[in-house]
Amino acid sequence: MPLPPLLIRPMTADDLDSVLLLEEASFSDPWSRGLYEHELNDNRLSRYQVVVPAGTPSGLPDVIAQGGWMLFGEEAHILTIAVRPDFRGQGIGRWLLLHLLAEARGEGCDSVVLEVRPSNEAALRLYEKLGFVMISRRKRYYPDKEDALVLMLEELDDAHLWGPLAGELEELARQMTGGEIVNGE
Ligand SMILES: CC(C)(COP(=O)(O)OP(=O)(O)OC[C@H]1O[C@@H](n2cnc3c(N)ncnc32)[C@H](O)[C@@H]1OP(=O)(O)O)[C@@H](O)C(=O)NCCC(=O)NCCS
Repeated sequence: MPLPPLLIRPMTADDLDSVLLLEEASFSDPWSRGLYEHELNDNRLSRYQVVVPAGTPSGLPDVIAQGGWMLFGEEAHILTIAVRPDFRGQGIGRWLLLHLLAEARGEGCDSVVLEVRPSNEAALRLYEKLGFVMISRRKRYYPDKEDALVLMLEELDDAHLWGPLAGELEELARQMTGGEIVNGE
């Protein structure tokens, strides 16, 4: 589907109907509304962002992608990331993940950890192309007993690593927003 101008902004309770549809379309074990409500209302260490069409009237959200991470001291843990199936393969996942990394870096994180199913080729490629490497395997981690691979990106505070990623984030933001709005600001 051709991309309208998009923006990234923090998730709110008004987004949850759309977010839950995206969860259902993306995961075999989707998060519940209650879990998201808890995360948005009570977890002061987690941050959630959504990708929406620029200019969506408030109260009428149409979430194209969502992602979240949690602060553990100087380590960020990516909790979730998903792009609507009809918008995949156009760079939105990479843009959103880079945005989450920038946010984590801005809050003082120098490493990022996440779990991924070994069968999830698209996500694995996305992470590996950004420089994530496997550090361990959690046996029978998921509800259906599939293992989880634990991936890590280190030295986010190193300018040699972050410089090119920051440049790419800027370029993707320019493309995705139509050049007018950078990362919801
Ligand atoms: C994983 C996901 C977020 C990627 O989002 P996306 O917007 O389609 O990804 P992008 O278009 O930004 O692609 C970025 C990179 O990811 C990899 N990738 C994306 N889709 C892929 C596919 N179908 N097969 C293989 N690699 C793929 C590629 O390396 C791609 O870079 P390239 O095009 O330069 O080769 C998306 O597939 C998704 O929502 N999946 C369901 C939810 C999920 O599994 N989340 C991750 C849980 S750990």
